[in-house]
Amino acid sequence: MINYEQMYREKLRTAEEIVSNIQSGYVCCCPTGTGEPEAIMNALTERVLKENLNNIEHHLMLASRRWKYWEPELAGKIKHVSWFTSGASRPVVQDGRADFMPGFFYENAVRWVKYVQEADVFYAMVSPMDKHWYFSFGPAASEAHAQMSVARKVYIEVNPKVPRVLGDCFIHISQVDLLCESSNPLPNLGETVLNEKDIKIGELIAEHIPDGATIQLGIGGMPNAVGMKLMDKKDLGLHTEMFTDSMVVLMESGAVNNSKKNIHKGKTIATFGVGSQSMYDFIDDNPAVEFYPVSYVNDPRVIAQNDNVISINACVEVDFIGQVCSESIGAKNISGTGGQVDFVRGANWSKGGKAFICTYSTAKDDTISKIVPALATGAHVTTSKNDVDHIVTEYGIAALKGKTAAQRAKALIAIAHPAFRDKLTFEAKKMNLMV
Ligand code: COA
Repeated sequence: MINYEQMYREKLRTAEEIVSNIQSGYVCCCPTGTGEPEAIMNALTERVLKENLNNIEHHLMLASRRWKYWEPELAGKIKHVSWFTSGASRPVVQDGRADFMPGFFYENAVRWVKYVQEADVFYAMVSPMDKHWYFSFGPAASEAHAQMSVARKVYIEVNPKVPRVLGDCFIHISQVDLLCESSNPLPNLGETVLNEKDIKIGELIAEHIPDGATIQLGIGGMPNAVGMKLMDKKDLGLHTEMFTDSMVVLMESGAVNNSKKNIHKGKTIATFGVGSQSMYDFIDDNPAVEFYPVSYVNDPRVIAQNDNVISINACVEVDFIGQVCSESIGAKNISGTGGQVDFVRGANWSKGGKAFICTYSTAKDDTISKIVPALATGAHVTTSKNDVDHIVTEYGIAALKGKTAAQRAKALIAIAHPAFRDKLTFEAKKMNLMV
């Protein structure tokens, strides 16, 4: 009989001892959010400075906080590779000290296994070992298994604050090379404060959501605001990429019970989650919520197996033909494709499904229209003109599928901010789109 308690003790080190194994030129990776191992990453930063290591690559999906290894003095020593740029990582990506990885979120595992192929080290923060000798990755299931499968060494940081989340997100003590313990607080996104535009957009979309629909809410303030408008619905389901505090409210209010789903009936399904400690407490050992790898959760073919899938995501700008930019301001990367296209396609393919992309009609104190004749030079197209379904602003909804180029331009101008409509119409005429 293998003594796993003893195995745990034999593998136990300090974070400093663990990172003493990391050398110049290493490729390291970790999961997102609660999976980012704070003690290990900070110890690595100290080691790099003290020992003058260089050329280390650190791959991370969505950084949930600002890391010390991004300080200018570490330029060239540890390079951050952003698989989805967050508010925290924007400055380091935009000033050229970090690189970013384009791609559909559901293909993250494929990119690790087929294209990146190997990493020297995978490290992750996990929940304490359970009575079966497993640690849970917590709400950080998205690419943890894929990264681990290509890594030569696996280190974990055991933190009792990480919830023991159910689904396909466990790692056995025998799969671990070394471990350390910590009790740092988990990342907290803070509260979503709704403004009038969010409330209007939420109401507009809520009218299109039938009882029994399966919902995905994307990243950013607005999709979560929509979630708050769904409290009066019945028998909703959740099959979503990112689990957030607004989903706890929907589940606790009874609006979500997952009873009408075709797959995972009775369960909320997600691939990662970031929120408040009370959200983390809610998903701890909760059989009503399961986390699976993103290669499964975000696969449009899986998403489409439920009927009436409604996806709700946000964007930066939309042009007259319906091309949606959600990840850059011009050529400047501000986030990533994430699961937007995965869920737009999944919703489009689902029987009765609809995909909504929402945006305020303007940015920067009403000085910029987010409905534009053509995307800004260098803008990254997230959702293509052929995938796009509904665009929503606080002035209404433009249903674009089945519409011609001219019909699309007119429908989009009708939901632009009134102050920009004449100018946009003038531009549309110049482009022969007012036929
Ligand atoms: N021109 C210039 N600046 C613009 C702009 C435009 N058209 N649109 C937005 N901005 C600016 C905002 O003013 C804001 O600037 P600030 O940080 O200086 O205030 C910044 O860009 C971010 O915009 P904001 O609307 O506050 O972002 P958000 O937090 O609501 O997120 C997205 C919106 C589009 C960035 C986010 O939804 C995203 O990353 N989407 C892509 C991925 C996705 O949809 N995944 C879905 C599955 S989870």
